[in-house]
Amino acid sequence: MATILVLNGPNMNLLGRREPGHYGAQSLPEINKRLTALAKDLGLKVQFFQSNAEHELVERVHKALDEAIRFIIINPAALTHTSVALRDALAATALPFIEVHLSNIHAREAFRRTSYFSDLAAGVISGLGAVGYELALRAVAHHIEKHKDS
Ligand code: DQA
Repeated sequence: MATILVLNGPNMNLLGRREPGHYGAQSLPEINKRLTALAKDLGLKVQFFQSNAEHELVERVHKALDEAIRFIIINPAALTHTSVALRDALAATALPFIEVHLSNIHAREAFRRTSYFSDLAAGVISGLGAVGYELALRAVAHHIEKHKDS
């Protein structure tokens, strides 16, 4: 069974309480609970990691190399717009990943329009709220099914 790593960056531990107009009412544990149930339906395993520290996310990505992680779903949060280090970590693993944002980063402040991740990503989902993570997981299942003989 393929294992998918779901990563969330700084301040995502405050979801539900944090600027609900942008990020919705669901907490991260609630989002992850739904992802766990969906993963079961899709025949996938999911692991979760959130950190407010850039180096911890970089190290978690490095660890994925030794763990047979098949795909990463990542919301780098504010690190989207700043982190060459996290981008390089993902590039180093060469693991496919989908970039997810709850809010539409193109419809907000100009600095949010730049992502250090999008050009490396297999795909980007932005602005669909928490369902974006579920759509990303469905896309991963689709990708794995499509490439199962390669
Ligand atoms: C975010 C968008 C980022 O610009 C912001 O810094 C976040 C969350 C989103 O999910 O919409 O923390 O990644």
